[in-house]
Amino acid sequence: MTTRRKKIYEGKAKILYEGPEPGTLIQYFKDDATAFNAQKKAVLEGKGVINNRISEYIMTRLNSIGVQNHFIRRLNLREQLIKEVEIVPLEVVVRNIAAGSIATRLGLTEGQPLPRSIIEFYYKDDKLGDPMVSEEHITAFNWAATQEIDDMMATALRVNDYLSGLFSAVGITLVDFKIEFGRVYEGDFSRIILADEISPDSCRLWDAATNEKLDKDRFRRDLGNVIESYTEVARRLGIMKEMPTVIQGGVH
Ligand code: TMP
Repeated sequence: MTTRRKKIYEGKAKILYEGPEPGTLIQYFKDDATAFNAQKKAVLEGKGVINNRISEYIMTRLNSIGVQNHFIRRLNLREQLIKEVEIVPLEVVVRNIAAGSIATRLGLTEGQPLPRSIIEFYYKDDKLGDPMVSEEHITAFNWAATQEIDDMMATALRVNDYLSGLFSAVGITLVDFKIEFGRVYEGDFSRIILADEISPDSCRLWDAATNEKLDKDRFRRDLGNVIESYTEVARRLGIMKEMPTVIQGGVH
């Protein structure tokens, strides 16, 4: 069914197809998992279905507090209708607790709370391995304007506050996450909205009681039970009711 449509873009975990009307796209969630700039690869049966559902839930909740984003509606198990945007070539990372690359780069102990939430920018370029960049690089190379950087930072902090509370309420610590933004044009003006996905692929989520990892680090670090952990996140968010059969049956 999906192959008849025009493919617009294929990334590591998702495919974008032409949408049913101008200004829309269909975002298809694959089961493919990659890490370390695709040096490590696997197919995790059911991941796309869970991430489609979790991202729908989070984007819908964010929309309800006024964080505008590209999500329109979920179409089926693996696809959602989204607004077409011009992706800003940056990954915006917000960190609350030291983990992953900041722990390595700055010699911090994983699990150490940061003095305050920290925002980082990475330039989206797989060939370069998504290098970290500063606002100076972003404005000098015209990847985003100063006003856009301010908007992205303000939105990133709102997303962090809201999601920290959302996850905390279900016994999960939001350690860090990555978001992406896109421009929508209205006449001569453009505004920046949240795009891409928010899922256990793009967040670090730890069980608040045990610090057990419930996110993609289970795949990156070969900890096992990746799908079980993603499913647990969905279950705690209260959005798992219709899914267990899908995961067991491996719907494609
Ligand atoms: P990092 O510690 O590896 O820099 O990752 C920070 C956060 O960003 C973490 O929640 C995982 C997420 N992330 C992505 O979503 N995509 C990526 O390509 C990378 C490197 C990190």
